[in-house]
Amino acid sequence: MIKVNGLTKDYGVRRAISNVTFDAEQGEIVGFLGPNGAGKTTTMRILTGYMPPTEGEAIVAGYDVVSESIEVRRRVGYLPETVPLYTDMSVFDYLKFMADLRHIPSVDERVDEALEMVGLTDRADGFIGNLSKGMRQRVGLAQALLHRPEVLILDEPTIGLDPGQVVDVRKLIREIGKERTVLLSTHILSEAQNMCDRVLIINKGLIVAEDTPENLQARLVGAERVILRVRGDSDDLAKVVEKVKGVEHVDAKADGTIEFEFAPGKDVRPEVAKTVIKEGYDLLELRPVGLSLEEIFLELTGTESTDKQRSE
Ligand SMILES: Nc1ncnc2c1ncn2[C@@H]1O[C@H](COP(=O)(O)OP(=O)(O)OP(=O)(O)O)[C@@H](O)[C@H]1O
Ligand SMILES: [Mg+2]
Repeated sequence: MIKVNGLTKDYGVRRAISNVTFDAEQGEIVGFLGPNGAGKTTTMRILTGYMPPTEGEAIVAGYDVVSESIEVRRRVGYLPETVPLYTDMSVFDYLKFMADLRHIPSVDERVDEALEMVGLTDRADGFIGNLSKGMRQRVGLAQALLHRPEVLILDEPTIGLDPGQVVDVRKLIREIGKERTVLLSTHILSEAQNMCDRVLIINKGLIVAEDTPENLQARLVGAERVILRVRGDSDDLAKVVEKVKGVEHVDAKADGTIEFEFAPGKDVRPEVAKTVIKEGYDLLELRPVGLSLEEIFLELTGTESTDKQRSE
């Protein structure tokens, strides 16, 4: 559980984050999405008890990050932006060292468990200095998991990983997120979209939006827009679709497809499908054409997009 209220951090005269407020429950994966310098790392450092805020308060795993930072650190797994690793230690020895620092019981078992989770069992005896960047990232992740923390704070967990490893690490995080609280930061929009239960979009130190990936998308589009395609003749199809309750703005396109909208949260696609089939059409496609999270992100953060193409 994470409860953040009005967090503000000034570095000298520069305000890095301003009045950041949000909650994250157990069993929830919350994504921090924002461009460079938005304040993601700053917020995460405060939440892990490494640095006090200038103003505001945060409770993590039931403890105050300023006055009870030791309790917080005991219950939080933190993957920092740059993982400090001792290159002349073996993977196993490094993790054992980290486990000892945290007074973890049955150290060897826990280290094996963490290595297994991140798929590094076969590199346990190798020197950290000889590992690839992605493998080091996974050692960092193993280190964050050692003490089976109830809250995980992961600063760009998939950065530097190859596509295969990205899939594995995302799967692992999703698994962990079922029982614990996960806060992760990312610039990768598809990552936020397919991993997180909720997304906080942060820009210049301010949270500019907070919602489920689906709702964020729907909110900006205002409504969901759908393309309908049938095999062969689509004469009168628009009239059929128009009669379905909840369908709005039906538009028959020159290529024979039909576009229509429905209000956010009122998905009428099942009814449309049933009706179209009942009327004897061969349904081929019923596809949403909402804005991508990427487009929403650019709009909210005011960054110029070079590619305004609509996508799925
Ligand atoms: N130790 C520091 N001293 C002074 N300014 C800092 C310090 N750390 C961060 N900042 C400033 O605070 C702001 C937020 O930085 P932060 O590292 O939190 O951003 P971020 O969202 O993690 O960015 P990135 O995506 O590049 O990692 C930036 O303007 C940055 O220059
Ligand atoms: Mg950062």
